[in-house]
Parts: sequence; structure tokens; C-alpha cells
Amino acid sequence: MEEFEITVGGLFTTLFAFLFTTVPLLIYFFETRTPQTPAPNTEIPLPPPTKITGLYTYPIKSCRGIRLEKSKMLKTGLELDRQWMFVDAATKKFLTIREMAKMTLITPVYDAKSDELVVTVRPSKVLPNPPDVTIRIAAHPSEKWLKQNTELVPTIIWKTTTDGWAYPASMTAPLTELFGREVLLVRKGPEKRVLRGNGNPEIIGREEYIAYPDIMPVMVTSEASLKDLNARLEEEGEDLTLVMERFRPNIIVEGGDAWSEDIWSEVRITGAEKSESKDTLDMQVISRCLRCRVPNVDPDTAEEHPKQPWDLMMEFRRIDHGFTFKPAFGMHCIPRKEPTEISVGMTFNVTAVTTQHRYISGMK
Ligand SMILES: *[C@@H]1O[C@H](CO)[C@@H](O)[C@H](O)[C@H]1NC(C)=O
Repeated sequence: MEEFEITVGGLFTTLFAFLFTTVPLLIYFFETRTPQTPAPNTEIPLPPPTKITGLYTYPIKSCRGIRLEKSKMLKTGLELDRQWMFVDAATKKFLTIREMAKMTLITPVYDAKSDELVVTVRPSKVLPNPPDVTIRIAAHPSEKWLKQNTELVPTIIWKTTTDGWAYPASMTAPLTELFGREVLLVRKGPEKRVLRGNGNPEIIGREEYIAYPDIMPVMVTSEASLKDLNARLEEEGEDLTLVMERFRPNIIVEGGDAWSEDIWSEVRITGAEKSESKDTLDMQVISRCLRCRVPNVDPDTAEEHPKQPWDLMMEFRRIDHGFTFKPAFGMHCIPRKEPTEISVGMTFNVTAVTTQHRYISGMK
């Protein structure tokens, strides 16, 4: 038994040895380990080129999108995308479709003649008598106009305080009943909102910005993946065919194999014969898009499905090792230069892939 005897002195020696060697090493390791942008994997073959079949912009955060044939792309995303949002008039905190499905009934339309957004509220089963209101706002207001007609206020999106030009309360007063509170419409102000999460400057080695999207400038989704999801819903016996708008993408591609987008890391968009633009647009694919329950909302009617596609996606799309409690659909991208013209029909070519995507939450 002699060799198994543990003396108090021996225990302390071991404990001290551990504390003074291993623990500092562990601390050093975790403190100095900065997350890196995933390295491309050159062993996996690149998927064949596909093409852009749709472009969407959502000028007012959480409201209905506008389908486009072409648009100007900036490093912050499609030119008009999420430049505006509704905030609580008292707290200036952002209001989102997550908590209020009816926001999808608020419909901005772009009037090219006057260069204005014309905002109305559509009726639906869940809102048979919408407020009878038409709000017209300049799509490209000058700073001088904003200074004279709006008030620059701090605005809160997730846990970040940024800024916004608040339009007069009288403009949005007719929406008070719909929102159940007084709201203000704000346009992103001059302060640069630096990307967080996977877009954190420490990770990507440069600063990139967004206006009012949740976390990233651009989201791309694949029709092939939606087709697979819809086929699985049918197999489950669900009487539900999802339209892509539920996922609120900016760029829709035809896609090759379903879910092949999971490993994209760099993409190049170039003018095809039939497209109007001859520009080349390179984008860094920064992370997968992990989903909340917003895709359960029908963007046309604001009706919320009690289960799908959330339940089904939780079964087979929890594939990101960075955060395994949410399903992935679509890829977040950062354009590498600006401005470029982008249009439906352009060739969308994946130029690098990676097996290293790990989601880091940017919603803080
Ligand atoms: C797509 O990208 C790959 C890799 O960079 C390249 O070899 C190929 O020629 C490109 N195809 C098109 C149609 O641009």
C-alpha cells in the first residue's frame, strides 16, 4: 500500500506545480489566440459557376423587400438596403419583424421618377384594415436636407448604439396603432457601424461597415437549397411551399447541389452575355447565416406558421460548429470593392471554399 499513500505535502507540491505551470500556459494560449479568417481549402473541388436569378433590397429594416433587376453594390451592401428602420420613439431601440410579423405588411416601393420611396401598408387576413397612409421619403436625401428636416439621434440596434436621422414624429403617427406604440422612422446617420462577430476587424484584418442590417452587408441564398427544403417539407406532409423571400436574401443564385454554399469562402460575380453589367464583383463569404424563426412568417400575409420551417431546419441544418442551436440557411458576404453594378443574369462563380466556417454572434 506504501506507494499509493498520498501525503499532504505531496498533494500541495503537485497542486502548486500545476498552478504555476499549466494554468499560466492555458491563460496565455486562450488570451493570445485571435480567431482567424478561415483558410481556403484547396483539396475540395470548386462547384461549377451558377447564375444570379434574383436581387432583393429591404430599404426599411424588417419591412417588405423590393425585387430588383439591377442595383448598385457598395461595400456596405446593396445601395438602398436597410438604410432606414423603425425605432421606438421613447427608447430609440430598433423594432424588428422577429417580434412583430406585421412589419412585413409595411411596403416600400421605389419610384424612379421622383427618386422616392413610397411606403404604404398592405391589408391582410391578420390586418384587414391597415392604416390608410402614404409616406414619401427621398431615396437619396442630401446631408443638408437631413440636417434641416430631421434630427440626428442615438439609435440602438441589438446592444450597439449607433445613430440615425429621425424624421418628424408626425410622419409616422398614423402607424402608432399598428405598432402599439409611438415610433419614429430613422435613416442611418454618418457614424460608421463597424462589423462585429465574424466581421470583427481583429478577425478580418480591416474595418468594414453596415447601416441597419442585423450583422452583415450581403446575404446570398441558393434556389437549389430552397428546393431541397421544400421537398423535405412535403415529405413531412406539410402543406407549405416556401418562397425565398422568407429568408430575406439580397442575392439569389440558381445554385448547383443543395447546400453546397455551406463551404463557399470567396465568390466572383461577372457579367454574363445576357446581363447588363460588365463589372466584376468579388465578395468574401464571411459566415453562414444562422436563423431565427422569421422564415416561419409568410412575407406576403404576415401569417406565422407555428412550426415550419424552423422545426424541420433544426433537425437537419444545425451544421455550424460555432453555434449549434440555430439552423443555417444562406451565406453572409462582404463585397471587396465599391461601387459595382450587379444585375440578374450575372455569373456567380465560387473561387475558393473552406471547411473552417465557425459562426460568431454579431448581434451584440
Ligand atoms: C470560376 O472560377 C474558377 C476558379 O477561380 C476558374 O478556374 C473558372 O475559370 C471560373 N469560371 C468562370 C465561368 O468564370
